[in-house]
Amino acid sequence: MKVSIIGAGNVGATIANVLATKNFCSEVVILDIKKGMSEGKAMDIMQTAQLLSFDTTVTGVTAEPNDLKGYLPTANSDVIVITSGIPRKPGMSREDLIDTNAKIVTGVMYQALQYSPNAIFIIISNPMDAMTYLALKRTHLPRNRVIGQGGMLDSSRFCYFLAQELQAAGYPATPTDVDGIVIGGHNDKTMVPLASIATYRSIPVNQLLSKEQLDRAVAQTKIGGATLTQLIGTSAWYAPGAAAAAMVEAIALDAKKLIPSCVYLDGEYDEKDLCIGVPVILGKNGVEKIIHYDLSGDEKTAFADSVANARETNSKLKL
Ligand code: 2OP
Repeated sequence: MKVSIIGAGNVGATIANVLATKNFCSEVVILDIKKGMSEGKAMDIMQTAQLLSFDTTVTGVTAEPNDLKGYLPTANSDVIVITSGIPRKPGMSREDLIDTNAKIVTGVMYQALQYSPNAIFIIISNPMDAMTYLALKRTHLPRNRVIGQGGMLDSSRFCYFLAQELQAAGYPATPTDVDGIVIGGHNDKTMVPLASIATYRSIPVNQLLSKEQLDRAVAQTKIGGATLTQLIGTSAWYAPGAAAAAMVEAIALDAKKLIPSCVYLDGEYDEKDLCIGVPVILGKNGVEKIIHYDLSGDEKTAFADSVANARETNSKLKL
C-alpha cells in the first residue's frame, strides 16, 4: 500500500505521522511546494520509527506548482490525499478560501493523476464539499474514487462534545463510549449532527441529556473547527489528520467500514449533482456503498438547508 499526501502542512504531516504509527502502509510520500518542508517532516517522522516500532517508509519531496516531473515519486499510489491550499485564519469561513484553493486543488489533482491513474483520492482542502465536487468535475473520475473528508472529523468532534455533556451530567463518559454521526456539509452553519440517534454505550443520549445539553453539543460541534482556529490562530490538524488516516485505513485494508464522508449524490437522499456528507461504506474501491438512513422531519429540513448551502458554494466554482 502506497499513500501520497499532497501538502506537508500541519494536516498533511499529521496524516503521514498517524499512518506511519499504524504501520499498515509500505510507503507514504509527502509532497509540498515549499523546499525542505516535506523532506524535513518526513525525516522527523522517520526518526520516531525506532521509538514507535513501525516499518512504514515516509519520504518527503518538493515539487513546484507546475513541475509535473516533481510528482514522479508519488507514482502508483493506491490512495492520494489532497490537503493543499491555504488554511483559514480566525474570522474566516471555509468558503472564504474557495477561489485560491480551487486553483490549487485543480493543479495538484491533474499532476497527481498523471502518475497514479488508478488512485483513490481523499480531498481535505477547504471548502471541502465544493473542492470534492470540483475534483470530480475536473477529472471525470468515477464517483467512488473521489471522497471528501469532513464527516469523520465532525462525528469525532460530536462524540467529544457529547461526552463532555454526559460528564457534566454525572455520567463517566469518554468519547469512545459515545457513538454519533454527523452528515451534511462540512461548514460552521449547516452540518447536521444527528443527536436523535447518538448513543452512550447503546443508551440513546436524548434519554440522558436535556434538550439544552444536546443543543449545546450540537452547536459546539458545528463550530468545532472555527473554535480551534480562534484558539490556535490557524486550522486544526490533529483530528482532521486522524480522521483522514482512518479513511485511508478503511480503504487500504478493505475494511468496509461505515464512515460518514463527502460523496457525489446521484439520487441518494433525493439529491443529485452535488457532493455532501452522508454515511458510506469505505473499502478497497473507495466508496463501496452509500447507506440510506431515514431522516426525521427536523433532520430532513436541516439536511435540505445543508444541500442548499453546498449548491450555493458550488455555484461560485468556475467550472
Ligand atoms: C476543521 O474543521 C480543518 O476543516 C478543518 O478543523
